Amino acid sequence: MKKVYIETYGCQMNVNDTEVVFSILGKAGYGRTEDMSEADVIMANTCSIRDNAEQRIRGRIDQFAGQKKARPGVIVGILGCMAERLKDALLESGKVDLVAGPDAYRSLPALIEAAGDGHPQINVELSREETYGDISPVRLDMNGVSAFISIMRGCNNVCSYCVVPYTRGAERSRDCHSIVREACDCIAKGYREVTLLGQNVDSYMYEGVNFAKLLAMVAELSPSLRVRFSTSHPKDISDELIHTMARYGNVCRHIHLPVQSGNDRILEKMRRRYNREWYLERVAKIRSVMPDCGITTDAIVGFCSETEEEFRDTLSIFSEVGYDSAFMFNYSERPGTLASRNYPDDIPQEVKTRRLEELIALQNRLSLESNRRDIGKEFQVLVEGPSKKNAAELCGRTGSNKMCVWPDITHHAGDYVRVKVLDCTQATLICKLV
Ligand code: SAH
Ligand code: SF4
Ligand code: F3S
Repeated sequence: MKKVYIETYGCQMNVNDTEVVFSILGKAGYGRTEDMSEADVIMANTCSIRDNAEQRIRGRIDQFAGQKKARPGVIVGILGCMAERLKDALLESGKVDLVAGPDAYRSLPALIEAAGDGHPQINVELSREETYGDISPVRLDMNGVSAFISIMRGCNNVCSYCVVPYTRGAERSRDCHSIVREACDCIAKGYREVTLLGQNVDSYMYEGVNFAKLLAMVAELSPSLRVRFSTSHPKDISDELIHTMARYGNVCRHIHLPVQSGNDRILEKMRRRYNREWYLERVAKIRSVMPDCGITTDAIVGFCSETEEEFRDTLSIFSEVGYDSAFMFNYSERPGTLASRNYPDDIPQEVKTRRLEELIALQNRLSLESNRRDIGKEFQVLVEGPSKKNAAELCGRTGSNKMCVWPDITHHAGDYVRVKVLDCTQATLICKLV
């Protein structure tokens, strides 16, 4: 049996795509290996979101090429967003035998076979229909507790900085019945948590079923199944969704609500299609319905023409919302996007870096404050496994997505436990069992 090794980069949707790829290849008779040196096929499922993501992957492709040299016959493949963005340019280097975009994974067995005959293969066709809805992903997570379920693909938003609409194509929603079937299958296999994935889950729509209704359908399957989702777009997150979350105790109280910037001129230029006031109103609404809801975000600093004052608006919206955690990035110009065509990438690297450091320092303080507010409180936590630092401790997350650790030698991954928060760091709640 030929063995396939895949490294996955980028977002959770890419992780789930790798699971789909293993399922397709498994049916075609390929086995899986985690050891590159014994693989017949070595692939990277790639990400193009920022230039540094691509640079890292280029370094890996060089290492794959080394394997090829040592073991002629090994096939090197590039999947995912970089495959879609760079297309045949990836083949020109001679280091790569196969390029397949995100909608081309059903053709992988044929592509691998043809590449084996020494002819480089490429399929970067994007589709308006492909959702891999009928494919049961091979779950790759080690703990067997938490699974990703893709509910849609692509994105129709065209935020001016973002490459995703070009690498993933048009938005399409997956058949809600196949999503429910997949969630049932997860329950049957012992999973305790599913995360519904899409670039903009709030625009999910399948035959009259919107995201709020889909969420309710999944939440009703079992009270002991935790349900999470990501990502919400501030322009689309609806009152119906917020009230639906509140109605189900097993829907985790956590919303990832990427703000990107706190300044209206920059938001307009990013084509986010909401302003600061709208965003803050959405946060107020979430908190009025679910006071305990965790809110996290993404932000970009140093977007084209961003002034110091406009950057201060991002700092101030962070303080005003008091995020529980955040992912923060320097703006990275992506070829082909609206911003790259229309606005110069004119903020010097050192200014971007200084702004990013300032924002990260602020968020570190906010994360610590958020965790301190939880000291003395009790939470239900889903056990994920032993903590990284101490084998006599377990770790797991609260519904609001905060990591907890506590001394425990009796419970196991997949158990629900109640813990009380005794202390904290900026990243972790230090707890005891109650
Ligand atoms: N669909 C999600 C975002 C997916 S990309 C949403 O709309 O919120 C994840 C994050 O990467 C984005 O939220 C953004 O903060 C960041 N990002 C996207 N393009 C970027 C770029 N060109 N430079 C820097 N960060 C970027
Ligand atoms: Fe990119 Fe905007 Fe789509 Fe998110 S919503 S994936 S940032 S275009
Ligand atoms: Fe990266 Fe593609 Fe996801 S660009 S963030 S892997 S959709």
